[in-house]
Amino acid sequence: MKILITGGAGFIGSHLAERLLKRGDEVLVLDDLSTGDLDNVRPLESNPKFQMKVGTVLDPDTLKPLVEWSDMIYHLAAAVGVSYVIEHPLHSLTTNIRGTEIVLELANKNKKRVLLASSSEVAGKKNGKAMFNENDDRVLGPTTVTRWIYSTSKAVDEMLGLAYWREKRLPVITVRFFNVIGPRQSADYGMSVPRFVKQALLGHPITVYGDGAQRRCFTDIEDALDGLIALGDHPHTPGEIYNLGANPDTNEICIKDLAHKIKDLTESDSPVELVPYEKAFAKGSYEDLNYRVPDLTKIRKTVGYEPKISLDMTLRRIIEYYES
Ligand SMILES: NC(=O)c1ccc[n+]([C@@H]2O[C@H](COP(=O)([O-])OP(=O)(O)OC[C@H]3O[C@@H](n4cnc5c(N)ncnc54)[C@H](O)[C@@H]3O)[C@@H](O)[C@H]2O)c1
Repeated sequence: MKILITGGAGFIGSHLAERLLKRGDEVLVLDDLSTGDLDNVRPLESNPKFQMKVGTVLDPDTLKPLVEWSDMIYHLAAAVGVSYVIEHPLHSLTTNIRGTEIVLELANKNKKRVLLASSSEVAGKKNGKAMFNENDDRVLGPTTVTRWIYSTSKAVDEMLGLAYWREKRLPVITVRFFNVIGPRQSADYGMSVPRFVKQALLGHPITVYGDGAQRRCFTDIEDALDGLIALGDHPHTPGEIYNLGANPDTNEICIKDLAHKIKDLTESDSPVELVPYEKAFAKGSYEDLNYRVPDLTKIRKTVGYEPKISLDMTLRRIIEYYES
């Protein structure tokens, strides 16, 4: 197939491009390099089935011929990362909402299949320890807390995708990623794993925000790609939303333990320091979630998804990447 990946010079997009090329697809990446990096796709440049265009999804003139060329679009371009969104709230809303609207509008002209990258953030916060299901109520804090911009923008994207499917029969598949990690994920935009690895390797304090008791479930990029491509290919996934994450038995951990695990694996002398939220983020811009773990029933049932890679194995690969 001819596949357009928006945001393809980013972390997930560059790994996806590599996988799709390996199975014989032609891949065209559009990326404005805001958080992505040309180095991520450099090794693909010699492949005649790969093309890279620097530009924004916000420009319909740039996007139109690329959509027309493609058989399918993986729309991953977005303003990503809690720190990034808090620092650029308006840009984030515009990129995530208008960008998706433009992609869907152009895709609809030729009824091109679209996979939309959404986020576990859409579900918001939850009390107690229950797995996040696709159909849970969304529970968000007040609009004064900038953190919820990302969740809100991705929720609007999901609703746009569903509306295009219901009203126009545009095949749109929506995937909610849960804390995907791996080599090439940037440490610069608030993602805890690459930030801790970098701090540990540089001998800087490993800074954990809040009390570190927040629990997350980290997904290896290779497992995420298995699920993502299976959903992208499956005939019955359009019009549906799917969680994509890891198995809590092997990959759930509290953030303080994660910091200590990374310190041990890197044999670092760095101290693990707790930083109050008020120091890490502008006042009133942030509130945290205590617990976030995916319910994978739906994706398992639909495409037989089974994540296989343990957190320790993924962390070792990320450490090797940062060391090199
Ligand atoms: N990594 C995760 O755990 C995770 C979790 C939830 C959702 N997601 C979603 O997955 C997608 C990919 O995220 P990622 O982790 O690879 O982050 P990333 O920052 O590495 O990738 C996003 C890419 O989009 C590009 N981009 C941003 N604005 C653009 C624009 N206007 N036009 C063209 N390109 C633009 C960036 O330069 C970057 O390369 C995003 O939609 C993100 O919201 C990721």
